[in-house]
Formats: sequence, structure tokens, C-alpha cells
Amino acid sequence: MTHLQFAADQLQLANASTVLRLSLHVLAAAVWVGGQFVLAGLVPTMRGFGEGAPQKVAQAFGRLSWPAYWLLIITGFWNYLAVSGTHASSGWSAAFGIKMLMVVIAGVGALMHTKATTPKARGMYAGIGLLGSIAALVLGIAIAG
Ligand code: HEM
Repeated sequence: MTHLQFAADQLQLANASTVLRLSLHVLAAAVWVGGQFVLAGLVPTMRGFGEGAPQKVAQAFGRLSWPAYWLLIITGFWNYLAVSGTHASSGWSAAFGIKMLMVVIAGVGALMHTKATTPKARGMYAGIGLLGSIAALVLGIAIAG
């Protein structure tokens, strides 16, 4: 086996632009998805801080989470452009399409959550937003090449 044939089988380092693109996408996903988990976990403790405390903290989280969501959309399009030169299988295209739907459900769920007026509706939309976000994340892993 020649040296060149051996090199083709080696794991290769990603180039700098791929590292930047995926690092920004994954960092934004960490803030958007991870923040929802942290916030949900802290709600019982925040209730002890008085009437409206969870809402105030959720509003403060919104100042971090919405920029992270828009960064996911921007870097997501960058991801798509970066991989669009390669022929996609029908499975990849289907997963990508469902991921786009999940991104919309995640954003709409989170938005409705902020607008909801009853605790029941707030909880339901928070759940929809979180499930959509997790699905978008898992499908992102599935399509990452
Ligand atoms: C809630 C929003 C989103 C979340 C949580 C999310 C999460 C992720 C994650 C975790 C990965 C895997 C990264 C890796 O393992 O390298 C990924 C990959 C990917 N995402 Fe997203 N994403 C979101 C929105 C978007 C949007 C809006 C688009 C397109 C417009 C997009 C397009 C892609 C593509 C094409 C890949 C594969 C990249 C590659 O193989 O180089 N994502 N996403």
C-alpha cells in the first residue's frame, strides 16, 4: 500500500471555516436548547423568590436565547450552503426538511410561550418549544457529515 492510499483512510482535521461554522452553530444550539432545560429546572426554586420571579428570569433569558436562535438560523443557512455541493440522499433531504419544520415549531412554541396568559398554556407551549428544539438538534446530528 502506498503512502497516498493510506492517507485517504486517515481521519482528517476540519478546515478553519468548517470549525468556525459548526462551532457557532453548536454553541448557539447549546444556549438555545440547554438554556431551556436549565430554566425549566430552576422554576421551582424561582417560585420561592416571589410572585412573577420565574417570568422575570424568563424575560432575561429571552435576551440570550433569541439572539442564539437567530444565530442558529444564520449559521444553519451557512451549513446548508457548505454541504449543498454534495449530492444528498433522499433520507438526508427528508431529515433536513423535517428539521426545518422542527426549527419553526421550536421558534413558534417559544414565542407563544412568552405570549401565553394562563399557566396551563405557558407550560404547554414551553413543552412544544423544547420538544421541537430537541428534535431539531437530534436531526442536526443525523444530517451532519
Ligand atoms: C433550533 C434550531 C437548530 C438546532 C438546535 C440545530 C442543531 C444542530 C446540530 C446539533 C447539528 C450537528 C452539528 C455537528 O454535529 O457537526 C446541526 C447540523 C446542521 N444544521 Fe442545524 N440546528 C438548528 C437550526 C438549523 C437551521 C435553521 C438550518 C438551515 C437553515 C440548519 C442546518 C444544519 C445543517 C445543514 C447541518 C449539517 C452541517 C454539516 O454537516 O456540516 N440548522 N444542527
